[in-house]
Amino acid sequence: MGMQAIPWSLYRDDETRFWVHIGLVILGFLLSVITLIAQWAKPAPYGKHEGSEAGNWGPMIPQRLGHIFSDAIPGVLMFILVFYLYGDSRGTVNYIFLALWLCHYIHRGIIHPLTMRYRSGQVALGITLGGFFPNCLFHFLNADFIGSAVYASNYYYDPRFICGIVIFVLGFVINRWADYKLRSLRRPKTEDGKVMTSLQTNVDGDSGYFIPRGGLYEVISCPNYFGELVEWLGWSLATWSLAGLVWALFGAATFLPRSWHNHNWYKRQFEDYPSQRKALIPFIY
Ligand SMILES: NC(=O)c1ccc[n+]([C@@H]2O[C@H](COP(=O)([O-])OP(=O)(O)OC[C@H]3O[C@@H](n4cnc5c(N)ncnc54)[C@H](OP(=O)(O)O)[C@@H]3O)[C@@H](O)[C@H]2O)c1
Repeated sequence: MGMQAIPWSLYRDDETRFWVHIGLVILGFLLSVITLIAQWAKPAPYGKHEGSEAGNWGPMIPQRLGHIFSDAIPGVLMFILVFYLYGDSRGTVNYIFLALWLCHYIHRGIIHPLTMRYRSGQVALGITLGGFFPNCLFHFLNADFIGSAVYASNYYYDPRFICGIVIFVLGFVINRWADYKLRSLRRPKTEDGKVMTSLQTNVDGDSGYFIPRGGLYEVISCPNYFGELVEWLGWSLATWSLAGLVWALFGAATFLPRSWHNHNWYKRQFEDYPSQRKALIPFIY
């Protein structure tokens, strides 16, 4: 069974839609380059880097709501609408991709913001919109692609499909594990000083920052970003699409600079920060 260079066809009967898709891919690429440069110059002011500049990013809104808005609206609601209303190809492979994407975004857009323990209950509106608008572009592109691409009937056995899904799942597990490890660092106390353990202890303003330890944290400062990057690389391999590739590039354009800023922040903050750790990629970067 030979491997086709391009295992799908896209918009066979609609050239205009094809070129709109390619135009949006190019826009996504340019946005990734701009993001990379801007995030190197200054990390977006939320979390560890919130500082006084957050005030320049518009009014403050509830942080949990902000993350739900920026990730669940494009990643879940819009994605499903585009897939069903705009897409015109729905084979099993397309549904598998839909399920993988939704696994990530139901978690990232709903469960994660509801369960994490943020230091601050508020986030600047500009940060929320700065996530929302790029997400709309990239999520539209990916929903449009997986809702419309007609994959070859033997694509299940294609090494790109199998390896891509394995890599995606691996990244998903790393991302989840790493974010919940961070969550476990903040154990809120009751009034008489006892540590609370229930899932409901996701109160904002719990406490400060600690050195995360164990697993991948022994070799990198940001395994949550590393895991997510691995996920999108797996996604672009499995879907074999420009939409997936440009989304993975945008992820890299966010994670490369932010992990570097986080890593240096840890080194400044903690004198005893383990010196062998890298920022994002074990032993390399
Ligand atoms: N696809 C994309 O373009 C994209 C972009 C950004 C993020 N994400 C994903 O979104 C998720 C969250 O990202 P993020 O930038 O918010 O991650 P983060 O800065 O690592 O923070 C995650 C959570 O852990 C807490 N935390 C971080 N370091 C801690 C420490 N040393 N001690 C105690 N608590 C700590 C944070 O609290 P505070 O909020 O109080 O700092 C926050 O609640 C990740 O899974 C990431 O992959 C995706």
